[in-house]
Amino acid sequence: MNHLHRKDGRLFLEEASLEDLARRYGTPLYVYSLAALNDAYQAYERALAGLPHLICYAVKANSSLAILQHFARLGAGFDIVSGGELARVLAAGGSADKVVFSGVGKTAAEMRMALEAGIRCFNVESESELERLNRVAGELGKRAPVSFRVNPDVDPKTHPYISTGLKQNKFGVPIGRAHGLYRRAAEMPHVEVHGVDCHIGSQLTDLSPVADALDRVLALVDSLASAGIRLRHVDIGGGVGIRYQDETPPDMALYREILRSRFKGRMEEVIVEPGRSLVGEAGVLLTRVEYIKRGEGKNFVIVDAAMNDLMRPALYDAFHEIVPVVESETASLECDVVGPVCETGDFIGLGRRLAVVEGGLLAVLAAGAYGMSMSSNYNSRPRAAEVVVNKNEIFLIRERETVEELMAGERLVS
Ligand code: LLP
Repeated sequence: MNHLHRKDGRLFLEEASLEDLARRYGTPLYVYSLAALNDAYQAYERALAGLPHLICYAVKANSSLAILQHFARLGAGFDIVSGGELARVLAAGGSADKVVFSGVGKTAAEMRMALEAGIRCFNVESESELERLNRVAGELGKRAPVSFRVNPDVDPKTHPYISTGLKQNKFGVPIGRAHGLYRRAAEMPHVEVHGVDCHIGSQLTDLSPVADALDRVLALVDSLASAGIRLRHVDIGGGVGIRYQDETPPDMALYREILRSRFKGRMEEVIVEPGRSLVGEAGVLLTRVEYIKRGEGKNFVIVDAAMNDLMRPALYDAFHEIVPVVESETASLECDVVGPVCETGDFIGLGRRLAVVEGGLLAVLAAGAYGMSMSSNYNSRPRAAEVVVNKNEIFLIRERETVEELMAGERLVS
């Protein structure tokens, strides 16, 4: 992580001492660096320079309002997958005409909301969805801008739960059937064909499946053009993978080359929907050690963050580096770093070697993406607070949830 560094053995994010932040706001606490968000965004701007493009930040990666506000200020659009995400984008100052709407299960109410807001494009994932969208748009006297999300059947070589472009996955329409669907859409009174979309998976560290998928999509663009259906944009889906452990993230110069060689002079616009790579390395999760439990053959460092705060290790067996916030002379311990939730799957990291003490602080790295946004209230745990750092400025962007808030909408039976 770029803007994370040590001063006299103490960890800082930009100019903020993580020890001070934990003391001031409590733990578990998510902390994000604005400079890191800017760097990540600029890497995409550079990769796409010279091509007409729109970077649509994938809201699901981190949907906190201040994060969305920051990307909106940088000029980003947004990739949303629900009415809730659209509401967040609008509340954060994002413009609807830069929003693309993905997802296999859009409800009629969500379609209405998006049509009324005037979003840029619906990424349609099935024939039934197309029919529904045509009907809903008709009821509102509008024409819905559409792309089909095509499933190119390529293996993205990532975790099976986050692979989306294989024919056994629920996403998109089979690329072989796309032609017929475009013809059908072109005849509909209340949809207007704008583009094509393809997202093959997340945490991609190898770009060759991306290049393969794009070739297949561009072959479709050509064959549609010869049938008189001209597409304005290609949406290439999510962004590149990041470094959690020993992965080598894709070379952005190669990424740029793959895009330029395929799109230069070809489309009116290229859309990308990066999530993880825009926020992942900008965020850390701070957690305090409650207990150190020395077991038989196994030591447990029990921390105050749990699977409800950061679900990735439990759900995908994901690795996040864990480091002490303050370096100490304490002897290091071979341990599992676990949370208080009553599940064996509740771990933040297994088989680590850490110099820790009870009451000490740990930082879980590269936790900015799919951390807070996937958090839950399991075990009736209020969700963490969030802080943004901009050089030496600190902003509390989300207060720690309270137990009263957790129960607020509930009623006892009479
Ligand atoms: N566009 C679509 C349609 C997507 O489904 C996704 C991610 C993205 C863009 C953003 O992809 P990215 O740039 O982040 O790779 N919770 C999982 C990741 C789930 C990704 C789902 N879709 C994790 O924590 O690894």
